[in-house]
Amino acid sequence: MEAPTLDSMMEHHRFPDDHISLLLLFLYSPIGLFLLLLRIFIGAHIFLVSCVLPDSVRRFLMRIMTSVLGVFTSVSEPHVRDKSVKIYISNHRTYFDHNVVSLITSCASPSVSCPPGFLCWARGFLELGTPGSRAQLQESLKHYLSQTGSPPLLLFPEEETTNGKKGLLNFSSWAFSLSDSVQPLTLHVQRPLISPMVTGCPWVMELFWMLFIPFTIYQVRWLPPVFRYPKESDEEFSSRVQKLMALSMGIIGTRHTAVDRAEHLKRRRRESPPPAASVSSSTADSRMVQRVKEVLPQVPLSVIHKDLGEGYKGI
Ligand SMILES: *[C@@H]1O[C@H](CO)[C@@H](O)[C@H](O)[C@H]1NC(C)=O
Repeated sequence: MEAPTLDSMMEHHRFPDDHISLLLLFLYSPIGLFLLLLRIFIGAHIFLVSCVLPDSVRRFLMRIMTSVLGVFTSVSEPHVRDKSVKIYISNHRTYFDHNVVSLITSCASPSVSCPPGFLCWARGFLELGTPGSRAQLQESLKHYLSQTGSPPLLLFPEEETTNGKKGLLNFSSWAFSLSDSVQPLTLHVQRPLISPMVTGCPWVMELFWMLFIPFTIYQVRWLPPVFRYPKESDEEFSSRVQKLMALSMGIIGTRHTAVDRAEHLKRRRRESPPPAASVSSSTADSRMVQRVKEVLPQVPLSVIHKDLGEGYKGI
């Protein structure tokens, strides 16, 4: 099978494109706004309660309480779990993946991008000091694992989210240098009417959408533990686990990295500037742009706007 493009692994549209769903969403929106406000209020309380409860009771209660916030989790194949494995490997779908997995099992997840501080802690990340290089992160995680009684680590070797429909990003190998055995799990996220995650959208916005829509379902599926072959390198181990997970999700393990994804996103943004830019240009300008577009249909509108703008200044 051919490798999917980066674009097909991202989600660019929040809203459905058929008219019936759009109408439904429109009719639902007053209820959604009311739910959003109510859930912000309830959520603040849940957050405070979760800070004081002991870990064992917390998970059970939190699962009930988060369903009030519209987050439902289902777990399949829990019997394949190996309690001695200290590394969980998951595909990355949304900003809240680690919160959801910690509802079903005790685990800790470091953030590769969130700077330490209140927000990092409040979002439920494991704080390991300032995130520096991957090598530093690896060292702190090794230290974390060497402490007895520390809960398993949940890692997202893709490092960035995908829409989970076409392919997995290339796994970075540092996650696989920590141990000779890992327990993979796959995440599948569903939500009515709007997409669970738009690539590049800030996490606070995603949180609001989550509280707005009636519910979001996270399906967690455990896969059997994977052990390192004798003499297998971190890279080989990592790519073998990626293939296994992709196979079980019915998608493809690609070589696109998180850095490629960021580059692609930047390129896309540059090619489609926000509509505000065209509103500000005068009608004479837009007629000019239209004429250029007729002559050179393959040139993106944004480029024409930019070139015309600069040309006028030049005169
Ligand atoms: C993809 O991941 C593998 C295993 O971690 C690594 O060896 C390889 O260099 C990566 N490929 C790219 C293009 O980064």
